Amino acid sequence: MKQTVRVKINGRLYEEEAEPRQLLSYFLRETVGLTGTHIGCVIGECGACTILLDGKPVKSCLLFAVQVDGKEILTVEGLAQNGNLHPVQEAFVQGYALQCGYCTPGMILSSFYLLSHNPDPSEEEIRKALAGNLCMCTGYVQIVEAVKAAAKNLSGLQQSAISQRKPIVGLGADS
Ligand code: FES
Ligand code: FES
Repeated sequence: MKQTVRVKINGRLYEEEAEPRQLLSYFLRETVGLTGTHIGCVIGECGACTILLDGKPVKSCLLFAVQVDGKEILTVEGLAQNGNLHPVQEAFVQGYALQCGYCTPGMILSSFYLLSHNPDPSEEEIRKALAGNLCMCTGYVQIVEAVKAAAKNLSGLQQSAISQRKPIVGLGADS
């Protein structure tokens, strides 16, 4: 029997019906229509389905949709603001940190989470934070460089916001 799931996704409240065994990744893509969350292995290995659940990265193929009732989710669609890509997304584009793009939403959300909690990570910390996200195309070098570039850009945005006494933009929902 279907159950009602009330969940806030990218700031918008959704109320949808889900079979008790429907995986969250399929719920996001097929029920809610947010196809930015990719599905790869469905066993928690590849990280393509990574989202932030109540601010923490999780693999959405390892949860049932009914488990997120009353919770808050950020998917890759929720990062851009007013038509502008988030600095992490921008850095991936500028740094050629994607080829087929299959891993990209998960990589970007894991990177976003890292930079929200550690604005100046070392290369080792970046690689550790992305260890649960696999990429078959890039060899990871451009991805790591993109995260470093995003950290630099975010720090510049913060400095300029502080000097202009403006609200800090660019860190997103989990800042
Ligand atoms: S599809 Fe979820 S970890 Fe691979
Ligand atoms: S860009 Fe193809 S899997 Fe990462």
